[in-house]
Parts: sequence; structure tokens; C-alpha cells
Amino acid sequence: MTIADKEQPKGAPDVPLHVAIVMDGNGRWAKRRGLPRQVGHPKGVDAIRRVVEAAPDQGIRWLTLYAFSTENWRRPAGEVAEVMRLLKLYVNSDLDKLVREGVKVRILGRREGLPPDVAEIVERAERQTAHNDKFFLQVAFNYGGRADIVDAARAVAVEVAAGRIAPEDITDAFFEDRLSTGGLPSPDLVIRTSGEQRLSNFLLWESAYSEFVFPDVLWPDFTPHHLAEGIAEFQKRERRYGGAVADDVLATG
Ligand code: FPP
Repeated sequence: MTIADKEQPKGAPDVPLHVAIVMDGNGRWAKRRGLPRQVGHPKGVDAIRRVVEAAPDQGIRWLTLYAFSTENWRRPAGEVAEVMRLLKLYVNSDLDKLVREGVKVRILGRREGLPPDVAEIVERAERQTAHNDKFFLQVAFNYGGRADIVDAARAVAVEVAAGRIAPEDITDAFFEDRLSTGGLPSPDLVIRTSGEQRLSNFLLWESAYSEFVFPDVLWPDFTPHHLAEGIAEFQKRERRYGGAVADDVLATG
């Protein structure tokens, strides 16, 4: 199966089944209130809860959140520690509810480099939700799109070196199965909050044909209403995946 097979049909799209979000603006939210940057992060977790709760009702099946990038280790140690603490707190307080509600949790990104207690808790979240299939929540944590592509390339190189596959066997589908998003559909819609318009090393391969929206709202202020607005904007777009829509093909012969 190629990536295009997993995407929605060409032309006017329906609800985006897979929405990916760059949750930007926690630091600015706090600074605007004269507070230390990291005070914005717990407010960001409140926004995560609102969106995870609302997304299934809005027709979304896969939700992928960019929580901590491979580059975020460069932030002050206190802020990094706060994000680690909040991830653990979120799993500890919300995991039972996620299990009950049929949410399957998957953490994208490199496990090595995570503090052992964080690695343990993300494994627990994945293990306890492994059999769920109502809604799929991916959290990109210690994730970088380039690092993920490099890791997949290494995995493929190992298979070639071992003689299990030949270079000609490497197709789009073969390669993308080795990304940490392997098996997921590619995102239909990528939302980045705070008005910034960058991908920042998020889902570089997977977002090749995604639609993008950039709402001018800081992540802690993001509500289900903003999510619905993003979906409405998505529905106005015309997805072509590099081809043409059927009407144009007919019109031009
Ligand atoms: C972006 O705002 C926010 C982050 C990089 C951290 C997001 C992480 C959490 C909310 C906590 C842990 C995650 C989970 C899943 C519970 P920013 O600090 O880059 O804002 P700025 O651009 O205004 O500085």
C-alpha cells in the first residue's frame, strides 16, 4: 500500500480523519501574563485534555500531538524537567480514562535518551491501551522528523546488509513502515497554533500532502471551537495529491 492509497479521495475532502497538531505558544502565553515561561505548559496540558475529549465527536480518528522535539533538549534544564514531569502526571492521572474510553496511545520518537522513569511510563501507556481501537492518540515525544527518517534509513540499511532485501525492494510503502508512524495513515490536516507558520521538523515525510492551517491562538487558549474551525477550513480545500481533480481532467480532456 502506498501513502496515496491510505489518503482520502481526491477532490473535496470530508472530515480529516487524522489531525496532527504543533502545540505552539505555551511560553508566550505565560510571558504575556508576566509569568515564567514554564507556567504555560500545565495550561497546555489542559488544552490537550480538551482536544482529546472533543476530537472523536468531531469525526477525527487519529490525533497526533507534537509535545517534545529532539531539539527541545536545548531549552533550560528546568523547563525540560517541567515537560517531563507533566507527561508523567498526564499519564498517571488520565491513563485509566483513556483505557476505558477505547483510546490507543502511541508515543512517536526515540526512546533512547528519555529518562528511565519517562520511558517506563510511556511504555505503560502503550501497553495498557494496546488493544483499544476507538480512537488513536499519538504523542510525538523526543521526536524529530529528520531523526525518524535517519532511524528508518538505518533499519533499511541493516536489512540490505543482512541480505534480507535488495535495494530494489525499497519502495515508499516499505520505507514508511519503518518510520515511527509506520501503519498510521498520513495526516490529512496539520494545525500549528500561535500564528507561526513552520513545520519545525514535525512529520516531514508524512505531511507531504497534508493541508495546513495556522490559527492565531496560543496553544493554552486552544479550544474545541478552534478545532472545528480548522476542520471547516480543511473542508474548503481541494486535495489533489499532485494530480488533477476529475472535473478539470474532463474539462481539459
Ligand atoms: C510549545 O510551546 C509547547 C511545548 C514545546 C511543550 C508541550 C508539552 C506539554 C504541554 C506537556 C507534556 C505533554 C503531554 C502530552 C502531557 P512553546 O514553549 O514552544 O511556546 P513559545 O513558542 O511561546 O515559546
